[in-house]
Amino acid sequence: AYDAEPFLPSRGGLPAHRRAAADCRGCPLHEDATQTVFGKGDGSARILLVGEQPGDQEDRQGEPFVGPAGRLLRRALDEAGIEWDATYVTNAVKHFKFTRPPGGGKRRIHKAPDLREVAACRPWLLAELRLVRPEIVVALGATAGKALLGGSFRVTKDRGALLPMPSEGARGPYVVATLHPSAVLRADDRDAAYAGLVSDLRVAAEALA
Ligand code: URA
Ligand code: SF4
Repeated sequence: AYDAEPFLPSRGGLPAHRRAAADCRGCPLHEDATQTVFGKGDGSARILLVGEQPGDQEDRQGEPFVGPAGRLLRRALDEAGIEWDATYVTNAVKHFKFTRPPGGGKRRIHKAPDLREVAACRPWLLAELRLVRPEIVVALGATAGKALLGGSFRVTKDRGALLPMPSEGARGPYVVATLHPSAVLRADDRDAAYAGLVSDLRVAAEALA
């Protein structure tokens, strides 16, 4: 089965994990992507944000949320009173998954990771959670929500509330789920979707106040 576990270092902090993740072959997604995009930010952040997977820009630059979704996310965090530099940001899956347009164009079209890939990559996410030890984890969208809260997670029913993270027990962080910033960019009513994102992020901000 696909599994990142054999590639995790047995000791060391975030830098050791970042170095090891660069060589992960726990699932086939490393084959076509440019590089592993590990999490980044404050290694003792009180808020850790989890996206889905790197996008095209993130794959090229090697850092999470540096493209259009990241710009929107930074604006929303700022509006919710959360300082970007005080967060740690990562993704449920660390390699970019994409397809090419039919006929063999050069464009890379984002493809959602499947459950096997999310499960394979989860050891990296759990390691980041244990090393950073945030108080609040923000799940951005359904993929992050399922990775953190299990397969019955649904954005519409679970968003905007403080939820305990089942696998981490009583001493684990709270999870606040919301829309993925890319879903805001695609929404018919973008203003309403954006306002919803900010309002969910305020739930996270207020939990720390
Ligand atoms: N979307 C994500 O989920 N993560 C990124 O890092 C960029 C876009
Ligand atoms: Fe490893 Fe995750 Fe990349 Fe798959 S997506 S190869 S599990 S880092």
